[in-house]
Amino acid sequence: MPGPLLEVRDLRVGFQTDHGLLTAVDDVDFTLEPGQTLGLVGESGCGKSVTALSLMRLLPQPAGHILGGEVRLEGRDLTKLPIEEMRQIRGNDIAMIFQEPMTALNPVHRVGRQIIEAIQLHEPMPPDKALRRAVELMEWVGIPAPEQRVNEYPHQLSGGMRQRVMIAIALSCHPKVLIADEPTTALDVTVQAQILDLIKRLQKETGMAVILITHDLGVVAETCDDVAVMYAGRITERGPVREIFTRPLHPYTQGLINCLPKLDHPPKTPLPVIPGMVPGLKDMPAGCRFASRCPNNHSADVLTTRQPWKDCGSGHGVEACACFATALATKPDPTHSS
Ligand SMILES: Nc1ncnc2c1ncn2[C@@H]1O[C@H](COP(=O)(O)OP(=O)(O)O)[C@@H](O)[C@H]1O
Ligand SMILES: [Mg+2]
Repeated sequence: MPGPLLEVRDLRVGFQTDHGLLTAVDDVDFTLEPGQTLGLVGESGCGKSVTALSLMRLLPQPAGHILGGEVRLEGRDLTKLPIEEMRQIRGNDIAMIFQEPMTALNPVHRVGRQIIEAIQLHEPMPPDKALRRAVELMEWVGIPAPEQRVNEYPHQLSGGMRQRVMIAIALSCHPKVLIADEPTTALDVTVQAQILDLIKRLQKETGMAVILITHDLGVVAETCDDVAVMYAGRITERGPVREIFTRPLHPYTQGLINCLPKLDHPPKTPLPVIPGMVPGLKDMPAGCRFASRCPNNHSADVLTTRQPWKDCGSGHGVEACACFATALATKPDPTHSS
């Protein structure tokens, strides 16, 4: 049986800092199948972008290092590839879009030229043909009047249109995996929904897999098949979206779900928040990283001993902290036979 399209195993990533080598991503595991959408969710600073940049081998240099683990794309470990081969993989097989397209686009070049450059990089062709392709791509990603827009500069476009240009550039070479790192965070709500719909449509048309990074579980609920919840550099819970929303096991996942706005929320009362902050890289406990913010009671060794991973069936797994694992073991969910 062929393996998954993308398989990330025990990925560890660190930064060389004034305080020494600090680990930002610690033993991250997940897999991705063709056509699947995986949501990578967690608060700011949990290591989502660092994970994504590691997959692309685009970590900030010289500080960022992949310290261990594997990133297998169709069986090939990208962490071991020579830079030249990795350059071929980027764009051809994996592409990425970012939160703020203005920083990724070159402000002094017309958007058409930037799309054409992306096309030519992977498939050299005569300029008039490349221009036609750029216009087609712009039309495909829903940019109105593409024949005119192709001659405009990034600042002449709205945030939503700029993100569409970035998507056109990312998809110009039909990647197998698209990583979208908070692609709608900088946009207003209606435009957010349009961009998410666009990604869904393009995914259906191309069969590509998507890793959608977001701090917003609401976005995950609407868009993703599976979700991996990340906290302080580790995946704390993972599973099919429906499973995670109906039976969240980790107190962090429960906290995130609890913070989602609800229709019956009384007006003018504050939304619930998870008190406290994600620990900094210097202050990571060896054990459960969420313990200092967790509403449950903990024995002291929870902070000092890494808590075991538990598979709960149906693809659902969790870092089973002792604060709730005992209850899990003694109270099987009647809806789950595994
Ligand atoms: N260049 C860097 N040098 C040192 N630490 C970094 C660097 N980039 C990111 N980090 C740290 O790595 C952690 C994860 O960051 P990041 O992946 O950007 O979080 P997220 O995308 O989940 O908001 C944070 O603690 C952040 O401060
Ligand atoms: Mg980020």
